[in-house]
Amino acid sequence: MSIMRNLNARRKLIKSFKSAGLYLNIGDNRVYPKIHSVKFTGGNTEYVFTLPNGLDPAIIRKNYYAFVQYFGKGIELEGEYKRFTLSIRTKKPATLPYDFEEIQPIISPHKLGIICGIDRGGQLKTFDLTKQPHILIAGETGSGKSSLLRAILTTLIKSKKPSELELYLGDMKKSEFHIFRRVEHVKCVHSSASDIISMLMHIKTELDERSNLTEVFEVGHIDELPPEHKCPYIIVCIDEVVMLHKNEEVMEILTELVAIGRTLGVFAILSMQRPSAKVLDTTVRANLTTSIGFKLRDTVEAKIVNTPNAHLLEHSGHFIMNSDKIYGLQAPYLTMEKAKELLNPFMISKNEVKEVKEVEPEILTESEVFFDVVD
Ligand SMILES: Nc1ncnc2c1ncn2[C@@H]1O[C@H](COP(=O)(O)OP(=O)(O)OP(=O)(O)O)[C@@H](O)[C@H]1O
Ligand SMILES: [Mg+2]
Repeated sequence: MSIMRNLNARRKLIKSFKSAGLYLNIGDNRVYPKIHSVKFTGGNTEYVFTLPNGLDPAIIRKNYYAFVQYFGKGIELEGEYKRFTLSIRTKKPATLPYDFEEIQPIISPHKLGIICGIDRGGQLKTFDLTKQPHILIAGETGSGKSSLLRAILTTLIKSKKPSELELYLGDMKKSEFHIFRRVEHVKCVHSSASDIISMLMHIKTELDERSNLTEVFEVGHIDELPPEHKCPYIIVCIDEVVMLHKNEEVMEILTELVAIGRTLGVFAILSMQRPSAKVLDTTVRANLTTSIGFKLRDTVEAKIVNTPNAHLLEHSGHFIMNSDKIYGLQAPYLTMEKAKELLNPFMISKNEVKEVKEVEPEILTESEVFFDVVD
């Protein structure tokens, strides 16, 4: 029975190789990739295969549709040049609960540890924002963007002192970041366009001051400044940044931030529902070194975000991450209630909450901003 199942599974994979044109013609023979193993676990199937030398691996991505036609949308393909793993999920995966105790030892070597998610092998993937600066998170409504932001921010708050990390939060939907408002690390939580613009003007001043300091002390990075001028890291996190994109000033500051922020210890995490080339021009995109694509609408969006096949994802909390390479990951899920509980020890009383310096920006009213989006 299991031999037959194995054989049938192999036959099906070879048929998909054939349809995808994934073979070499040597003389009169076709040489297909070699199938090393077929594993069945639960409702899932996992194949491992290697390409014959000389076969262009780009064919796999180009003709990915052939695999989807054979195995359905619940597939994940990992590999780069020779060895590939194809996983076929037939069952809805279980939610992965957020567990800080499990995350802590893995992120502790990082200066600013970002929690991403687990890969198919159960490995937790994290990275250091100081080394891979600026993150773009995109995905359709309900795909898991705000939930991942909640897990990332809570993890950072729990692992950094307020003297080491300052957070500036923008929440255009007014529904996500209120739980962080009284956290000591959090300088402000703003949800109107005009307040977010003021917040960014403040960040611009901070960038200028930090640039001056590095120049005066002739250092290449703020971490090298003398102790009396030590600066905390700053993270600017805006959920639904698209709602602000028609404001030139906002886009100018964000462009500057992502271009020069790394050596100044200032980082951006930006989320958006509908990525478009108009919102993310190439300069900005080139400087966002990590892209996270939850379920996206189509190949065009997947291309803009640079997360191949993110349009084929099916479950909330699943995403493709493109940083040093491409990962298929599942985010740990941190509910609002659990986050509040974890944040409780970091709360300060309301009148201690500092607001950003008042500056006089050119203000775009909220209604203007909203009209811009509903087109
Ligand atoms: N990692 C996860 N694991 C399991 N379920 C998740 C995960 N992340 C999100 N979900 C589910 O999806 C729902 C929507 O998530 P979330 O609010 O983060 O989406 P979103 O992308 O921010 O959507 P919107 O664009 O509408 O704001 C959550 O309420 C939860 O039920
Ligand atoms: Mg959201």
